[in-house]
Order: sequence, then structure tokens, then C-alpha cells
Amino acid sequence: MRGAAVVRRLLRARLRRRCPAAFLLLGAVCWAGGGALFLFFLAHGGVFSGRCTDEQSRRILARLCLDYRKGALTGDLCEDLCVAQKLIYKRCLYYDQGKKVIQADWRGRPVILKSKKEIFSSYQRLGFLEEMESQGIPEADLLLMVALEIKNALGLELPNNTAGPLWTRGRGPHWKAQLASMWSLLQQEEYIYFSVLQDFSKHVLRVIGSCGHFYAVEYLTAGHAWHNTLFSVEDAVGASFSGIKNKAKAITEIAISFLDMVNHFDNDFSHRLHLCDIKPENFAIRNDLTVVAIDVDMAFFEPKMRDILDQNCTGDEDCNFFDCFSKCDLKNRKCGAERANNNLQVICDKIFRPWFSLNLRGPTVSFPLQLQLQKAVHDCAEPAYDDVALLHRTSLTSLTQLYQLLRASQKELQKSGSYSHHVY
Ligand SMILES: Nc1ncnc2c1ncn2[C@@H]1O[C@H](COP(=O)(O)OP(=O)(O)OP(=O)(O)O)[C@@H](O)[C@H]1O
Ligand SMILES: *[C@@H]1O[C@H](CO)[C@@H](O)[C@H](O)[C@H]1NC(C)=O
Ligand SMILES: *[C@@H]1O[C@H](CO)[C@@H](O)[C@H](O)[C@H]1NC(C)=O
Repeated sequence: MRGAAVVRRLLRARLRRRCPAAFLLLGAVCWAGGGALFLFFLAHGGVFSGRCTDEQSRRILARLCLDYRKGALTGDLCEDLCVAQKLIYKRCLYYDQGKKVIQADWRGRPVILKSKKEIFSSYQRLGFLEEMESQGIPEADLLLMVALEIKNALGLELPNNTAGPLWTRGRGPHWKAQLASMWSLLQQEEYIYFSVLQDFSKHVLRVIGSCGHFYAVEYLTAGHAWHNTLFSVEDAVGASFSGIKNKAKAITEIAISFLDMVNHFDNDFSHRLHLCDIKPENFAIRNDLTVVAIDVDMAFFEPKMRDILDQNCTGDEDCNFFDCFSKCDLKNRKCGAERANNNLQVICDKIFRPWFSLNLRGPTVSFPLQLQLQKAVHDCAEPAYDDVALLHRTSLTSLTQLYQLLRASQKELQKSGSYSHHVY
């Protein structure tokens, strides 16, 4: 049972380490899984270091392959990346404070390679791998460790079998490298979110595989605030979708997918999933126009959301956490633990508003319908209620109404001939 004792000691150390003192000093939230926030502040506090060059990226991948050949790490994509040359570097998309986002080509399809840190050895090591023969550690203990990492990241206790996608099976000759690689991935909250949710959600990025601390996800068309339709429909579904009517059709479909996603994140998990950083850049579309959340650094399930909002306050402004906020109870000087706004409201405000202003839609949908949509989006973004319970009911009404109006738009767009002669 020496193995179990070592694992327990390690787990205790790990839980303590999770709450960096400096972070507490910042007066920010520190919860057992606050790592994601910590990362966020680090990432946004620092200046962009400009190391997103081809040269730097190739060097990082070469280093990864060197570690693979030495037997320090492994993963289902290592062979393709390091030996068969079927996973090929294309360009660097993003670099900040060690976080690396690379576009690559995998057997003819574009993928994204991601890691929170550049170098494998920068990840915390699984201490007992050096202390003892890892073969001697009971599988149940290892599974427990994985479950704990997931619990820390998501703030949720998951059913026993959900560690599945994160768990490397089989104790082959590379068991040690497998464990070390798994451990580096488990230190990336985003990877945990994607892996755990993918079997349950089409609105979450698909994980394709991994090599060491890098994991590959599907390449999608990400949104951009500067793009006139936020998402480039042509990039997602091809040039045949140009033309104002096709674009209007596509945007209507994307908007419906946003509503599906809101509905899904509100109702289909054991806890509501709150998105606290809603902007076009954090969403992408597949070629079937499904909306996908691509940046979940600021996504929190209800229990963690409550912990984050649970602050002292002297006014409502102290209870704002990016796009998630609650109200200050002036008597107790405590923020409400329950979020006072919701995903739909923020999506209406930041995504739908620019879309459904009259001008952008052009003469593709009848004027009355355009007006109705614009009003519905406005009411959804700025509900006239202060009370949280009432707000939820209003939002439900908004959701239903938006679905109806968007479906009506779809019908109009489906009919042959546009409405151009009716309007302008
Ligand atoms: N799956 C993907 N497909 C296409 N582009 C992507 C994908 N994932 C990320 N990107 C691009 O890379 C950029 C950075 O990725 P990501 O959002 O993961 O970094 P981040 O550090 O979390 O960003 P932020 O600082 O906004 O939180 C994105 O803005 C997007 O343009
Ligand atoms: C998970 O497994 C552990 C040990 O095998 C057991 O004690 C626990 O009750 C299980 N939890 C759930 C939610 O099934
Ligand atoms: C909030 O206020 C209480 C009592 O006024 C105090 O004990 C507590 O330390 C404060 N918490 C934070 C995080 O500042």
C-alpha cells in the first residue's frame, strides 16, 4: 500500500499548492480550482511577448519530438508529428506567457495544437514517478487522482466513469511516459473542460489527440469583432455562401445555434454552465454552422460561479466578474452568490445586437420582422427586471420569442425571391 500513501501525500501537496498566496493578496477569488483565473490574470497582465514566430514554434515542436524520442512523453499524435510527418506545422496563431496556439495540418485536415506552457518540463511533475516504480501504483489510486484533478478544474464531482476520456489505458512499455503526459494535460483546465464535455455537447471543441503536453483540437472559423458579420461565413462553408441572402440565411442559422447552445449550457448538465467572457473571438463555427465555445478559460459551472461571486462589497460594481455579475446586498455587504444576469442576456447584447440592427440584414427579411427581431434582441439584452427570479422567467420568454422570430426569418429567406422590392 506504499503506492497509495505516496499518492495521498501528493494529492495533499497538490491541493495546497492550488491556492497561490500572491493570488490571495490580489484580493481575487481563490478556490481550490482557481488556476484558470490565475492564468487569466497572468495572461492579461503581461505584455504580448511577440514570440509567435515560425522559428520559435518549430523549435518548440522539435523540442517536443526530442522529448518523445527520449521516452519522456508520448501520445497518439506523436508518431504522426515526430516520425511519419503527417502532422505538419503551418503557422503560429497565438503566444502569450508560454501559452501556445499553433495551426497545423493533420493528414490533410487543419487542426489546432495547444499548450498552456511551451516546454514539457515546465509542467509540474508527477513526483512519485521518480520515487517508485509506477507499475506498482494501483489503478484505482491513479483514477482517483484524475478524478480529483477534474473536480478541481470543473468544481464538480463527476460520476465515476467520466474520467474515461482523460484516462490512458493499458500499461505498455511506455507507461511512465503515458502517465507523465497525462499529468501535463491534466494541468490544463481547458483540456479538462473539452475532454469531459465532448461526449455531451456539440457546442464544445472536439479534442483530436495529443502528444506530450500539446493537444490537438478541430480547426474552426473563429469569430472576430472587426468582421462585419462577426463570423466569416465564406471561410466556414465556402465561397458559394457569399451574396447577401445566403449570408442572411447563414447568420440566422448561426443565431439559432447560439440559442441552442444557451439552452444546452443552462439545462443539459447537472449544473448550469456560466460563460463569463462573451465576445466573438471566444466562439467559432463548424462548417455545418454549429456554434462552438473555443475559449473556456472563463466558463464556470454553478458551484464555482457561486464561489467566485461570493465577495464582500460596498456597491454593485464590486460584484461584477467580467460578463457575470450579481447584486450587492448593502445590509450584509455581501454580493449575492447567484448570478444576476445570464448567458442569453450577454449573447443578445454582444453578439445579436450587431447582427440584428436594421442595416446589416439589408433587404433580405421583411421590414416588420426585422423590427420585431431588433426589439426582441433589445428586450433580451436589457430586461426591465431587477429581481433574479423574474429575470429567469423573462429570459425564457426571450428565448422562445427569439427562436420564433429567427424561424420566421428562415422561412422568409427560404421562399424564392427576396423582399428587396418590398422594402427599399
Ligand atoms: N479551434 C480553433 N480554430 C481556429 N482558431 C482558433 C481555435 N482555437 C483558437 N483559435 C485562435 O487562436 C486565438 C487564441 O486562442 P485562445 O482563445 O485559446 O487563446 P486565449 O489565450 O485563451 O485567448 P484569450 O486571451 O482571448 O482568452 C483565438 O482568438 C482564435 O483566433
Ligand atoms: C465512485 O467510486 C468510489 C470507489 O470505488 C465509491 O466509493 C463512490 O461511491 C463512487 N461514486 C459514485 C458517484 O459512483
Ligand atoms: C469580508 O468581510 C468579513 C467581515 O466584514 C471579513 O471577516 C472577511 O475577511 C472579508 N473577506 C474578504 C475576502 O475580504
